[in-house]
Amino acid sequence: MNRSARRMAMPQLDEELFVQSLEELLALDAGWVPSGEGEALYLRPFMFATEAFLGVRPAREFTYRVIASPAGNYFGGELKPVRIWVSRDFARAAPGGTGDAKTGGNYAASLAAQAQASEQGCDQVLFLDPLHDNAIEELGGMNVFLVTSDGRLITPELTGTILEGITRDSVIQLAKDRGMTVEERRVTLDEWDRGVQDGTITEVFACGTAAVITPIGELRDGDRTIASTGTGDVTQAIRDELLGIQTGVVEDRHGWMHRLA
Ligand SMILES: Cc1ncc(COP(=O)(O)O)c(C=O)c1O
Repeated sequence: MNRSARRMAMPQLDEELFVQSLEELLALDAGWVPSGEGEALYLRPFMFATEAFLGVRPAREFTYRVIASPAGNYFGGELKPVRIWVSRDFARAAPGGTGDAKTGGNYAASLAAQAQASEQGCDQVLFLDPLHDNAIEELGGMNVFLVTSDGRLITPELTGTILEGITRDSVIQLAKDRGMTVEERRVTLDEWDRGVQDGTITEVFACGTAAVITPIGELRDGDRTIASTGTGDVTQAIRDELLGIQTGVVEDRHGWMHRLA
């Protein structure tokens, strides 16, 4: 949040105040924490300018809020592979822009592409590198990973146009803990396509706070379908471990957890 605030010329939020705000909210709303598999109380901190001023410059007064909502599985129901639409008409971010900040405008920019995906019967959009239209970046609200048959995990590198998701970070750590080699680099659609065809790419998944880890089943690029495998063992194992850490049934080796309720 502080990284995003810096990019948006907004003030830094004191870490202790941030944690205190979550604690105070949960002291009131702990009863809303759901207990079902894959369910969570989604916490959404946000900040906006509230100075009475008309003009273009960084504001001098801001309001910080946290809201919460019980959330089920992001794509509804059980864990099933989702269908992804390659966005060819819209870009989400450009070099030097705000693509690596969690800011409302990015979501607004992704909505026309998301609507197009829905019209095509897909669940989410895959955005491509705006400079090299064959390199993959991320989904509208999730980072992407490819699993190889020889135990590597590949994800697009952070170039400023991709959000550095906390789930992405956690997945990279958990994969390394399992002895997997993690490659953060440019990944092309051709590599994905070829890898699925020749069996060297065995699983593809998306990850984010809301979706946790969701297998990608099918990638649609216009009329072309690049089929992936369904839910694989690596996707399932990393998802189980991450959810296990979050729910306290797997040891929190890295000190990620803070008990709120
Ligand atoms: C564009 C984008 N990419 C990736 C993510 C996943 O980030 P995180 O794991 O921090 O939720 C999000 C989450 O909101 C996002 O908006």
